[in-house]
Amino acid sequence: STGPVGIRPIVLIGPMAVGKSAIGQQLAQQLGAPFVDTDAVIVAGHGSIADIFAGRGERAFREIEARAVASAVEAAEGTATVISLGGGAVLDSGTQQLIGRCTVVYLECDANTVAARIARNSGRPLLAGDAMGRWTEMFATRKPVYERLADITLDVRQGSISELGNRLEAALHNYA
Ligand code: S3P
Repeated sequence: STGPVGIRPIVLIGPMAVGKSAIGQQLAQQLGAPFVDTDAVIVAGHGSIADIFAGRGERAFREIEARAVASAVEAAEGTATVISLGGGAVLDSGTQQLIGRCTVVYLECDANTVAARIARNSGRPLLAGDAMGRWTEMFATRKPVYERLADITLDVRQGSISELGNRLEAALHNYA
């Protein structure tokens, strides 16, 4: 995003299983800021993501997701709240517009690095079956969107969660 620098929410985007929730939580702790995971907000309000997909379909999930993201971003305005989005949330044009008012961090990874995490994944309906094939396919279509929306890109292929949190905090200081 562009515009005058002030206190803005920090929004983490990127594909499934790159560590958006873990790194977001870590960063929030470092900053002493609140943390909101929009997937967790959805689950709290509507039950498991797998059940929403199975019972109501992906389109219904995307509508619920867009509303959850909008309320999280609106509630966080004027604060440094850290918000992690689900991997597909950025496909919604309203969401793309809304997060333009935030500092958007794209967590960049690759298939090899996420493979181990995906292998033990549970509850990600879009990765059922040929998990890595699906991940790679989704990443190919979404990558340009992530790149276009990103103010900061963080390479998450190497480093512990706390190291990545520190690297991200430094990048945010340089960006502001
Ligand atoms: C999805 C990613 C998931 C979750 C849902 C759909 C996607 O979130 O929102 O399963 O379309 O990429 P994570 O990125 O947190 O796994």
